[in-house]
Amino acid sequence: LPTSYTLPSGDKIPSVALGVWRAEKGKVGDAVKTALNAGYRHIDGAWIYGNEAEVGEALKESGVPREDIWITSKLWNDFHAPEDIEPVLDESLSRLGTDYLDLYLIHWPVAFKKGKIPREVDWDLTNNSYPTWQKLEELVEKGKIRNIGVSNFNIRRIQNLTANPLKIKPVINQVELNYWNPQPELLKWSKQNGILLEAYSPLGSAERVKETLQVPEVKKIARVLGITPAQVYISWHVQRGTAVLPKSVTPSRVEENLQITRLPEHLFDLLENAANSHKPVRSVDPHWGVDIWH
Ligand code: A2P
Repeated sequence: LPTSYTLPSGDKIPSVALGVWRAEKGKVGDAVKTALNAGYRHIDGAWIYGNEAEVGEALKESGVPREDIWITSKLWNDFHAPEDIEPVLDESLSRLGTDYLDLYLIHWPVAFKKGKIPREVDWDLTNNSYPTWQKLEELVEKGKIRNIGVSNFNIRRIQNLTANPLKIKPVINQVELNYWNPQPELLKWSKQNGILLEAYSPLGSAERVKETLQVPEVKKIARVLGITPAQVYISWHVQRGTAVLPKSVTPSRVEENLQITRLPEHLFDLLENAANSHKPVRSVDPHWGVDIWH
C-alpha cells in the first residue's frame, strides 16, 4: 500500500497520520512522541483542538527534523473573515513551534462571526468561501503554508468554490469516512476531480469504535490475515485511496495503527460491500443553524 500520496505541489503526504482530535492534554505529547518513534511522519491537528502547544513541544523534543514531518492544522469557523486568518494561523504556527504548515484546511464550510457568544453564522462567508480562500492563497505565496484544502465540504460546496478563478485549487478534503459512513459517491467524484480525501474518525470515533471493531466481516478478515480489526480498517482506507487519520493516545495502539497491509481483492470487496450496504450514519453531525451536508 502507498506510504504517501504526491500532491500537485509535488509534496508527498504520508498516507497514515496520527489524529489528535480529542487527544487529551497531558497525553497528546506522549502520543506524538510515540508516533514519531514508531515511524509516523504526519500529525493531523487543528487550532480548535486546543492542544497545539503540547503537540509542538513534543515535535521539538522528538528531535525529528521539521522538514521530515507533515503538519496539518485547520482554520476555525470564527476566523473566516480574510483579516482574521493570518493572526490565528500565526497562533497555530507559534504553538506548534514552526514557521510553516504543510497543510491548512478550512475546518468547516460554516463561518461564524468572530467571538460571538452565542455563535452567529456569517451567512455571506458561509455561502461564499472564495474571500477566505483568496487569503489562504496569499498565505501560500507568503510561505506560511505549503498546501491548502477544505474539510467537511460536500461536492456542491467544492464546486461553488472552484467556480471562482482560483490560483490554487483545493487538493484535499478531510471528511468523516468509516464503516458507518463510507461515502462512496464523494470518494469517486473526488478521485475524478483530483482531490485527495482524508478519513477522519476512521474507526468510528470514541463513541463507536467498539462496535466498529466487532463488525463480523472485519473480524473475519482480521482472522484470515492474522492482523487486528483496526489494522484491517486502516488498510482498507488506504486501499480505497484516501489518507487516514486514526486517533489514539495508547502507545500500543499508536504503533498498531501504522502497520498496514494490502487486503486481497476479495476481502477488500467483502468489507467495501458490507460498508456500502447499510444506511449511512454520521458520527459527527454538528447543528450550527446551517445544513452542512446539502
Ligand atoms: P484511545 O485514544 O484511548 O487509544 P477514530 O480514529 O475513529 O477517531 O477512533 C478513535 C478511538 O478509537 C479512540 O477512542 C481510541 O482510543 C480508539 N482506538 C484507536 N486505535 C485503536 C485500536 N488500534 N484498537 C482499539 N481502539 C483504538
